[in-house]
Amino acid sequence: MGNSIIINADIEKGKINKNIYGHFAEHLGRCIYEGIWVGEDSAIPNTKGIRNDVLQALKNLNIPVLRWPGGCFADEYHWKDGVGPRENRKRMVNTHWGGVVENNHFGTHEFMLLCELLECEPYICGNVGSGTVQEMSEWVEYMTFDGESPMANWRSENGREEPWKLTYFGVGNENWGCGGNMRPEYYADLYRQFQTYVRNYGDNKIYKIAGGANVDDYNWTEVLMSTAGRFMDGLSLHYYTIPGDFWLGKGSATDFTEDEWFTTMKKALHMDELVTKHGTIMDKYDPEKRVGMIVDEWGTWFDVEPGTNPGFLYQQNTIRDALVASITLNIFNNHCDRVQMANIAQTVNVLQAMVLTEGENMILTPTYHVFDMYKVHQDAACLTVETATSTFKGKEEEIPSVHLSASKNTKGEVNITLCNVSNQDSAPVTIELRGLLDKNVTQVRGEILTSENMNDRNTFEDPNAVEPAVFEGLNVNENELSFEIPPMSVLLITAS
Ligand code: AHR
Repeated sequence: MGNSIIINADIEKGKINKNIYGHFAEHLGRCIYEGIWVGEDSAIPNTKGIRNDVLQALKNLNIPVLRWPGGCFADEYHWKDGVGPRENRKRMVNTHWGGVVENNHFGTHEFMLLCELLECEPYICGNVGSGTVQEMSEWVEYMTFDGESPMANWRSENGREEPWKLTYFGVGNENWGCGGNMRPEYYADLYRQFQTYVRNYGDNKIYKIAGGANVDDYNWTEVLMSTAGRFMDGLSLHYYTIPGDFWLGKGSATDFTEDEWFTTMKKALHMDELVTKHGTIMDKYDPEKRVGMIVDEWGTWFDVEPGTNPGFLYQQNTIRDALVASITLNIFNNHCDRVQMANIAQTVNVLQAMVLTEGENMILTPTYHVFDMYKVHQDAACLTVETATSTFKGKEEEIPSVHLSASKNTKGEVNITLCNVSNQDSAPVTIELRGLLDKNVTQVRGEILTSENMNDRNTFEDPNAVEPAVFEGLNVNENELSFEIPPMSVLLITAS
């Protein structure tokens, strides 16, 4: 069966919030230290301690928002340890991630500098699990109060006179687990209490994000929305694509079977069901969709690379990861009425990273290239899509083989991102593009990310093994595009 698609360029579903293309950087393994922060005295070229190669690579992605300092680390982090002269900062143990020494050299000022250099918005996650209401309240005062106050004065003494602009603030992380093992009823009450003291100073308006559910814990969403919904602007959701079992073996990032490929695609598609079902519960309490769904942790999670610290979550990244990113970003685009932010885990050297580093060297991953191709959707109008697609068969089940989303930018160009999740067969596709202003397609171009083998990846020896190329196979007939999309590929088509 072929794949017959209709895209209505004149029927918009809503705006794709650019924050769906957000990222997450935790004090975990080599993400912050080595991956981002090398220190001012490092031989690796840097800007005030932040490595330039990573900075440049990330800047190119137009990162809209960056979440920090965790993750599980957030509920163990005491921000006051990370300000003031670096040589005096407290050395602590990162108990959750590898038991290594955390010297607190990357703290609030360094994170805000990173965001300034990336020209992105900071999203800070506060400590509910082991912190106090006062500590959280004072952090917000430290960052945003303009004028005379104990925290603002301290900020000035530490070299920053002007307050920072801070919009996104998370009140705890995974409070059902590493953030305190709480029941939803208990967390909902704590959320109400803590958020009261997350103040808006001057014209700085905080968008408050409550810690949301793990995967399909729909009761968590129900309790949070019913008891604390009116005190929040966003509610988070965490879901990782894990082909195996979280505790018994997640599966290798690079050495996997065709069955594992299929399972990975199927599990990536599960995000659609989760967003739909959590969204339905949110609709019950918030039919206006005022509260954003914030998927602030998502991505692939495999076994760590052999020989690396199990607490560092370092994994390689193949064309399979690129397909997971493509599927997931399409899902978020298509649910742009409720999903207002998403943050892939994690930016550098951890889980489904954009870039990997080894000493002074850095490589871009296939996932990086997907984010680069998809940045055209940021703040664009999501278009309605009708599909009849072929299926990709696993041993016992089947899933649609072609998955897509489409948007229109302010210039009137239509960007279509689609992927073929089959690792075996190419798929013939026909797209009828309806509702273009001058009726027929006059200009079209394509860019493709694909590879020969399921586990192809970029390495430090061969850094450009998987990278995008111009797609030559587009046929245009009036307002109809037809082409054959190769197996294991992500395709961006721009038409006007
Ligand atoms: O991203 C790794 C960890 O996964 C985060 O710290 C935690 O929030 C989640 O369980």
